[in-house]
Amino acid sequence: MLRFLQLLCILVGVTTAYGRQVPFQISKDGGKTSQELMHRTWDLDHARRPGVNCTSNVLFDTVNSLLQHWPNTRYRNGHNLVPGTVPPNTLLYHGTNVPDAPTVPEWLATDPEHSYLFCRGTAAAGCWQFTFITTRPLKILYFDGSSAAKMRGGPMDSQDILVWGEVRPEWTMNERRRINDLCDWGKQFELDGFVRMEMDFEIMLCDFANGMEIVSKLNLAAPRIDMPSPPPHHDNLTVHILDDDAALMTTVLQAGSWHNHYPGEPRVQLDLSGLVSFYDTSLVRSLIPQRHGQQRHEHRLQGIAPDDVRAVRDAVAGTLTREEKGSGIDWKALLRVITLRYADRLELLRHLLNSTEAEMASRPPLDSAKLVQRELRIMLTPYIINSAVPASIRSHAEARNYSWASPVFKYCATTHTNFITSSQALSSVLTESESLIMEAVSETNREICRVVVRMWAEGVAEGLDHLLPRPSSPAVSSGRLKNLLSRWQGEIDELIEWLDWSIWIKCRPACSFEEMCYLPTWPFYGRHKGRPNHPRELYDSPMGVDERDDTENDWLIPKPRCIRRVAPYSTSQLP
Ligand SMILES: *[C@@H]1O[C@H](CO)[C@@H](O)[C@H](O)[C@H]1NC(C)=O
Ligand SMILES: *[C@@H]1O[C@H](CO)[C@@H](O)[C@H](O)[C@H]1NC(C)=O
Ligand SMILES: *[C@@H]1O[C@H](CO)[C@@H](O)[C@H](O)[C@H]1NC(C)=O
Ligand SMILES: *[C@@H]1O[C@H](CO)[C@@H](O)[C@H](O)[C@H]1NC(C)=O
Repeated sequence: MLRFLQLLCILVGVTTAYGRQVPFQISKDGGKTSQELMHRTWDLDHARRPGVNCTSNVLFDTVNSLLQHWPNTRYRNGHNLVPGTVPPNTLLYHGTNVPDAPTVPEWLATDPEHSYLFCRGTAAAGCWQFTFITTRPLKILYFDGSSAAKMRGGPMDSQDILVWGEVRPEWTMNERRRINDLCDWGKQFELDGFVRMEMDFEIMLCDFANGMEIVSKLNLAAPRIDMPSPPPHHDNLTVHILDDDAALMTTVLQAGSWHNHYPGEPRVQLDLSGLVSFYDTSLVRSLIPQRHGQQRHEHRLQGIAPDDVRAVRDAVAGTLTREEKGSGIDWKALLRVITLRYADRLELLRHLLNSTEAEMASRPPLDSAKLVQRELRIMLTPYIINSAVPASIRSHAEARNYSWASPVFKYCATTHTNFITSSQALSSVLTESESLIMEAVSETNREICRVVVRMWAEGVAEGLDHLLPRPSSPAVSSGRLKNLLSRWQGEIDELIEWLDWSIWIKCRPACSFEEMCYLPTWPFYGRHKGRPNHPRELYDSPMGVDERDDTENDWLIPKPRCIRRVAPYSTSQLP
């Protein structure tokens, strides 16, 4: 089934490519026109980058980032709801100030470092830490993003909408109400709990007497600190930071960082064939105009139309009650493989094309161009069929006809999904969620290949390719070469910006051994000495953040930096 998403991704390309407006009538369930779109051009001269409203890139990146701490810290406002399970015999932790197991919905941490934050007690009485084990698979729903960050501005939007039908900023801190309402809502689907992320991952568990056993109940030495009441009531954390406090906080941040990258939090298993996304433009239409012109970190669900809320809730209900199991395709691995194949290589191309870095390596432009060409060929080797050779190049006009490279583009762009689209047996059992993911994969893969194959074909036309030299061509002039390199640099930069994979967000230079690379995470934003640690505006102003304030921007768009992971912790850089 072809969805509206695809239309957003390529309609622009098709219409502008031929320089006129083409009135498309697309029926949602496909049809002739959709078929035509599906088999659209492999002509590199007419293929265009996806339209501005296309969400394939963010779908690809968010689906590829599920349960990973780093990307979900960078983009806090989750857009995906994913069903899953916590398998039997999984250890989970609960810290508290009382010696009794919870009898009401409560929170469980996946790491004891996290639950120990809530192990509260006096030096004399100590505090209580429970270790539980699951006795059966727990049925959960996962909210991606920093969905346990009790801040306004979007991290809790998806929960609000699911349970209350609208964003309720006034209940941002009302965790008791939230967990009770979520659990009440989840009863109809026999949901045991909800998975969220803050400094580390947590499970909101609805019933501790069902599917859980106590493994141990330890009366631990309580942390000897001036433990802040739950943030954000405490707005001057920095001055309280003694080494003990800092060690406690840093330990939680470290535990979270263990799940920074693939495969992320290992104790939760998601079922991607039931994923529901607010980035699904065929499901949620009302957010398209809202996102228009916004940067990604600004994407919110506030303002979603009531019809779309109903559609999302129906989709989630469908997903939680459905019988069909989907295709069995391991989407998580498929997305990961594509990321692995291109992440380092695109980063390397960006480096080779950066004239500053080329100068630093004292590499003349022609050498840079040849190096890039060689890397492009290496990337494309599995798709460069033997017959992909420009016939003969007599003029520049002919040189710019890349139709000979179309098969390379096509093989490159379809290599990871062709086995699905070409198999009726497989494509007919895809769930809605799976076809959404497949389209995100196809579009993303296609865009990578469009850029890379075109660059390679241009290099061939310029006589830069060592395996396809141009017999009688004059050496490329330095002016042309400069233009080519700067155009290539623009292409790669734009592609990297469009893909926006968090894998590229690193501390540069890398942190020293006693440090860790850190992205500002709720509730620790401290950076500027003497400034409050977390911006009050977030909690107090219904408008959220004032973006004109640069210091707030520093964490609004989280930037990586090194913080010490052992004492002495520096107050200016510490949580
Ligand atoms: C926060 O800490 C600074 C520096 O010690 C102090 O001057 C200020 O009064 C404190 N603010 C609050 C609200 O406690
Ligand atoms: C993107 O969406 C906005 C808002 O719906 C619309 O005005 C604009 O024309 C769309 N742009 C493209 C290229 O489709
Ligand atoms: C090029 O490299 C220099 C030095 O590493 C870096 O400062 C600059 O940001 C890079 N430029 C681009 C466009 O990436
Ligand atoms: C490009 O080359 C192909 C194959 O040689 C040819 O069929 C096509 O007409 C050419 N296109 C243009 C615009 O010259």
